[in-house]
Amino acid sequence: MAVCFFERLLFSCLVLVVVCAKAELGNTVGCIEREREALLRFKHGLVDDYGILSSWDTRDCCQWKGVQCSNHTGQVVGLYLQEGSLRGEISPSLLELELLTHLDLSFNDFEGSSIPPFLASLPKIQYLILSDANFTGRLPSQFGNLSNLLSLDLSGNYHLHSGNLEWLSHLSSLRHLDLNSVNLSKAIHWSQAINKLPSLIHLNLRHCSLPPLTTPSLSPVNFSAPLAFLDLSWNDLTSSIYSWLFNFPTTLIHFDLSLNADLNGSIPEAFGNMSSLEYLDISQNQLQGSIPDAFGNMSSLTYFDLSSNQLQGSIPDTVGNMASLEELYLHDNKLEGEIPKSLSNLCHLQKLALQSNNLSGQLPQDLLACANDTLEILYLSYNQFTGSVPDLIGFSSLRVLYLGYNQLNGTLPTSIGHLTKLQWLDIGSNSLQGVISEAHLFHLSDLHTLDLSSNSLTFNMSLEWVPPFQLFSLALTSCQLGPHFPSWLRTQKQLKDLDISNSNISDVIPNWFWNLTSPIYTFNISNNQIIGNLPNLTSKFDQPLYIDMSSNYLEGSIPQLPSDLALLDLSNNKFSGSISLLCTVSKSYLVYLDLSNNLLSGVLPHCQKQWKSLTVLNLENNQFYGKIPKSFGSMQSIQTLHLRNNNLIGELPSSLKKCKCLSFIDLAKNGLSGKIPPWIGGNLPNLMVLNLRSNNFSGSISLELCQLKKIQILDLSSNNILGSIPRCLSNFTAMTKKGNLTIAYNYDSLHNSFLSDAPWSYVDSELVKWKGREFEYKNTLGLVKSIDLSSNKITGEIPKEVTDLLELVSLNFSRNNLTGLIPTTIGQLKSLDVLDLSQNQLIGEIPSGLSEIDRLSTLDLSYNNLSGKIP
Ligand SMILES: *[C@@H]1O[C@H](CO)[C@@H](O)[C@H](O)[C@H]1NC(C)=O
Ligand SMILES: *[C@@H]1O[C@H](CO)[C@@H](O)[C@H](O)[C@H]1NC(C)=O
Ligand SMILES: *[C@@H]1O[C@H](CO)[C@@H](O)[C@H](O)[C@H]1NC(C)=O
Ligand SMILES: *[C@@H]1O[C@H](CO)[C@@H](O)[C@H](O)[C@H]1NC(C)=O
Ligand SMILES: *[C@@H]1O[C@H](CO)[C@@H](O)[C@H](O)[C@H]1NC(C)=O
Ligand SMILES: *[C@@H]1O[C@H](CO)[C@@H](O)[C@H](O)[C@H]1NC(C)=O
Ligand SMILES: *[C@@H]1O[C@H](CO)[C@@H](O)[C@H](O)[C@H]1NC(C)=O
Ligand SMILES: *[C@@H]1O[C@H](CO)[C@@H](O)[C@H](O)[C@H]1NC(C)=O
Ligand SMILES: *[C@@H]1O[C@H](CO)[C@@H](O)[C@H](O)[C@H]1NC(C)=O
Ligand SMILES: *[C@@H]1O[C@H](CO)[C@@H](O)[C@H](O)[C@H]1NC(C)=O
Repeated sequence: MAVCFFERLLFSCLVLVVVCAKAELGNTVGCIEREREALLRFKHGLVDDYGILSSWDTRDCCQWKGVQCSNHTGQVVGLYLQEGSLRGEISPSLLELELLTHLDLSFNDFEGSSIPPFLASLPKIQYLILSDANFTGRLPSQFGNLSNLLSLDLSGNYHLHSGNLEWLSHLSSLRHLDLNSVNLSKAIHWSQAINKLPSLIHLNLRHCSLPPLTTPSLSPVNFSAPLAFLDLSWNDLTSSIYSWLFNFPTTLIHFDLSLNADLNGSIPEAFGNMSSLEYLDISQNQLQGSIPDAFGNMSSLTYFDLSSNQLQGSIPDTVGNMASLEELYLHDNKLEGEIPKSLSNLCHLQKLALQSNNLSGQLPQDLLACANDTLEILYLSYNQFTGSVPDLIGFSSLRVLYLGYNQLNGTLPTSIGHLTKLQWLDIGSNSLQGVISEAHLFHLSDLHTLDLSSNSLTFNMSLEWVPPFQLFSLALTSCQLGPHFPSWLRTQKQLKDLDISNSNISDVIPNWFWNLTSPIYTFNISNNQIIGNLPNLTSKFDQPLYIDMSSNYLEGSIPQLPSDLALLDLSNNKFSGSISLLCTVSKSYLVYLDLSNNLLSGVLPHCQKQWKSLTVLNLENNQFYGKIPKSFGSMQSIQTLHLRNNNLIGELPSSLKKCKCLSFIDLAKNGLSGKIPPWIGGNLPNLMVLNLRSNNFSGSISLELCQLKKIQILDLSSNNILGSIPRCLSNFTAMTKKGNLTIAYNYDSLHNSFLSDAPWSYVDSELVKWKGREFEYKNTLGLVKSIDLSSNKITGEIPKEVTDLLELVSLNFSRNNLTGLIPTTIGQLKSLDVLDLSQNQLIGEIPSGLSEIDRLSTLDLSYNNLSGKIP
């Protein structure tokens, strides 16, 4: 039996020195019967699902798992029952363990019970570890009686709270306090309580909802604790914290003030005096102003994080003085200027992240010269760096290189191919030119992510090339890859994301590609000249989320698809036949389905019940016929519905009422009939675009339609609509106000969080008949406000309320049977670009107000009985 003697040394931090000496002691001291019984009662109170305490039945309780006894008296001194998944109650029998100094019950599950206050009566307890044990409720203030306590850890009990920390101030021996995730939002005087702990070395108050210091607590404190570790991250602190903080500048080694969303203002220079700091994190706040020069004084700093603030100005030269720096994070700020030359002095730098700023200038050859052996991660993407990609030869540890979204030009140096540790290489969206050859990738055997998209690069690999790597993610958008489908992909057995869109491939997708065994998540081959048919895809992808094969020359029928598909874009191809196989997409992940501009036909399938998440459905410009199925009303999330230019007939199913999210409906150029359903007005409050042009709708325009407050484009032209124009159309408020309502969906923000890796957005387009021609509006769509009722059988007068729609850009009432006068207030429509009232039976004077509309470029009043001058 080995005997260990513990000796505690107190330094600037706690050091536990364990001196172990082996000796044969025999069984001289054993367990004390009274304590054995106390432990058994303790065990009895617990629920031990996994038999953690199964050894607790022998004679000598000192041999039981988790029990530590004094080697001199046989009394229990420690109970280490962490990570036992124990449940149940903690028995007060523990109080009989008179010498218990160490109690660790962390990572068990006390099922939301409160911490038993009797623990505060354990007379000798020094280490009380109750973290991550699912305790809730109020923290017992009796803990203030534990005057021998050296270490208290209650972290990770998410529903534990303490109204004040007054009890803490009695724990004069306390060195280590961890209340991470305990709710202290009511403990407004928390700092005073901490001030009374003279021995405190380690303080963790992360995620405690700590309130800001109030002015009274700013009173000068004589804080003498040798505090070395302080974590105040993820709280509600403001800059009033600084006056307290700067009382212990010389002892702190680790300081974290990140994630305090209300912490704004500039960074105090006084940080520069914290000369012993090794770890400083003040990221993810709202800090403004520039980085103080004084930071250069922190020569012990190894970890420095100012990322995700609003910092401006340039990176100070003095950062180069932080000679110990290993990790520097300044990303996601508004920093400008060049990378200071002094960074080349940092010889221990391992991780440098400067992405998403406004940094500019060239990346010099000796950029991080001294870190050539140590640098592992270099993030410089999303800035405005110019010039060529630096030659990083000799950076033998580099694993991650992100240079994407800059303005780098020239060719890619082949020395990249010697970075043998490289795993991620992203230089997409720059202005690089030239040829990528096997040499560029020659030694990159660890590479798993390669993005060279959106440059002007040509791939020139031999047909037999066997890359040294197995990629997870490959993005070569807009590279010159073709004309053949890249045969080296055949060697890649682990691909998850593949984007070879717009890369000049005019080939079939080879059979072997469909046999790749890897679970592809995203697959984008759009905008090529790929020909051929698609095979049955059900078993070809393991977990496909996103398939984009749009804008190719694919033909044949739409094959059977994997059931858990989320995005499918097969638009702009030559697919034909029915789409009934689509119903196999059944797992309700589908959010986006675009089959537009093909030669598809048949009736629309009835399987929309399983498409609860579908947001965009585009089937326009095909040859579908028959009615719109009732089941369309089951698409609860649908926002955009495009069925334009098919051969659909019948009435709109009233089940569409249930699709409350609809903001865009385009059913133009079909044979739909019946009255324009009044429920559109009352049930689709988000509708911004309604296009029913060129159908057989009849009847009059019902007043209910006036409830479409958000409508921006209303096109009912070329139908058989009768009756008069309702006066209430002045209720189309979106047409009365300035405003840029955009109909754009960012799939990041859609509820489908599994798509967060697909930075993919979709902007609706709409064909608006504009000056006699159809134009496609994409990004400007939000600005177009138009009403088109032309080519119907509408009678009566033009209601003067139309002229309340002040932001109208286009108004077309031509080819009807309108009578009466043109409203004299028409001149109010100052944004009007097109006004067409031709081929009606309007009479009277042409209102002089028309001449006040500067923007008016098309005015047609012909074939009426108007008199006066055309302005
Ligand atoms: C008692 O001896 C055992 C075995 O040598 C050792 O593991 C343990 O740490 C000792 N206990 C104390 C409290 O010193
Ligand atoms: C905590 O306890 C509650 C109440 O028994 C239980 O519902 C919950 O799942 C537990 N939480 C954890 C993380 O074990
Ligand atoms: C803590 O101490 C106070 C006063 O010293 C006493 O009244 C109280 O009973 C003690 N609580 C416990 C749980 O020992
Ligand atoms: C790294 O840089 C140092 C000094 O800048 C140089 O002496 C050394 O040769 C470089 N190492 C490599 C592998 O290039
Ligand atoms: C790269 O861009 C810089 C300007 O940023 C220009 O001076 C230089 O000529 C360009 N080099 C190449 C090879 O195009
Ligand atoms: C693909 O797999 C199918 C079925 O396993 C097999 O018949 C075919 O030969 C394979 N094709 C290639 C090119 O490996
Ligand atoms: C597609 O393949 C799956 C699985 O291999 C099979 O069950 C299904 O019948 C096939 N579908 C068609 C239309 O061939
Ligand atoms: C038009 O709006 C007004 C004011 O909001 C409202 O009282 C009226 O009922 C609306 N008319 C119609 C037909 O919706
Ligand atoms: C309208 O919004 C779009 C998309 O957000 C934007 O691109 C465009 O510049 C905006 N136009 C105006 C005039 O604000
Ligand atoms: C318009 O009215 C006239 C007479 O009132 C009628 O002859 C004509 O057929 C009508 N035109 C339409 C398109 O309804």
